[in-house]
Amino acid sequence: MGYFGGEQDIEFAGKVFPDKGATREEVMQGLSAFDAMDVTDIYAHNTIQSTTLMSHLEAAEIAKDANRMFLRRNYLYKELLPGCTQMGLEVKQMIKEMLRFPQDSRVRFTSGGSESLYSAIASAKEWGKQEKNILKPEIVVPYSIHTAFSKWCKYASINIKRIPLGKDYRADVAAIEKAITKNTILIAGSAPCWPYGLFDDIPALGAVAEKHNVWMHVDGCLGGFQSPFVEKLGQQLPTWDFRVPGVRSISADLHKHGYSAKPLSSITFRNKDWEQYYVCSASDWPDGLYSTEAIAGTTSAGPIASAWAVMKFLGEEGYLELAKRSMEVKQRYLDKISNIDGVECFPSDLCTMTLRLEKGLDLFAVMGGLFERHSYCLPSFQPPALKIVLDPVTDEVVDTFVKDLAEVIPLVKSGEISIDNLKPWM
Ligand SMILES: Cc1ncc(COP(=O)(O)O)c(C=O)c1O
Repeated sequence: MGYFGGEQDIEFAGKVFPDKGATREEVMQGLSAFDAMDVTDIYAHNTIQSTTLMSHLEAAEIAKDANRMFLRRNYLYKELLPGCTQMGLEVKQMIKEMLRFPQDSRVRFTSGGSESLYSAIASAKEWGKQEKNILKPEIVVPYSIHTAFSKWCKYASINIKRIPLGKDYRADVAAIEKAITKNTILIAGSAPCWPYGLFDDIPALGAVAEKHNVWMHVDGCLGGFQSPFVEKLGQQLPTWDFRVPGVRSISADLHKHGYSAKPLSSITFRNKDWEQYYVCSASDWPDGLYSTEAIAGTTSAGPIASAWAVMKFLGEEGYLELAKRSMEVKQRYLDKISNIDGVECFPSDLCTMTLRLEKGLDLFAVMGGLFERHSYCLPSFQPPALKIVLDPVTDEVVDTFVKDLAEVIPLVKSGEISIDNLKPWM
């Protein structure tokens, strides 16, 4: 079983690369066949949440048009592209205004949440080397932080200590502090985390970072573009941004609740003093100075254009409306699921919700039964739960999912749905 990147190899009968080119119509037909195989449209199917975050269909169309218009421009060559450069600067300024970041903070685009997290670790590593002579770096993070942290630590040979969570499923700040050593370059917290939709205590982590002089990164990839609007609507959230003095960098994904085309995220440094550890301008090759926006080289301006277009199209009013709708969706799930035996909604702060299953209920059988009804959600394992990403969907979408769940759970309990009698679906 696999999700997040699983694929099975195919034995192809013959050559796949054609000797002679096809017509445009033939090519488009081929693509349409792939398109029809994918499960993407939350309105054509009952419930497809968690994966697209594009339920505002008009904004999604505008993002697509903007993406297409700028897709072929390489944001690497800013000297040749004053239009793209101006557009990018406007998006960066809008990010600062939307997320209430200080005017002297420094925003950089990345290809996604993962690259933003890699960037934070890379900056902390350079800072640790230059300022503290740390040559065997390690980072200390809560168990629930996104696993992209582990990925980069593997690539960069950095030791990662994932510290067990507190009883409330949030970072155990005292345990994190205890794990800090002279080799620690970075600690981090989520706002909120992917597995549970919970905020870590960023002010407490920030204080620990200041006390021990280590880099503090806030992973706001998931919530960054929703939290400020939810707060404006009156919901109190834990403080998670540069208002916390120890925070040096924050990641926030435009391709999640920023509603841009994929792939696009951002990492923002508190100011130039911290950004300098990220800047990597190499010139040790025949072609002179090479300085990029982020870790990647060639970068399509398409997603940046889509962010510009969606931000201008929605404005503050539109983002507030979408945040309000997400909160209504969460409340609707909470109300309706409380009537279903065998599943419990675990409280979350924002963005995701975990639906914990009664002991003994087979998670994969429940997911499979839902999937057969075209209701799809992601799994979570500790404890076994279904995860919903709170997208601003219609009541109909919520109600269909709840109806399917209410139907599937008794069938799993009675054994009519089991992992043995489901079609292969993963
Ligand atoms: C909190 C958090 N951080 C980082 C990531 C990684 O983002 P991406 O998939 O864009 O690389 C995710 C993805 O869901 C996330 O939820």
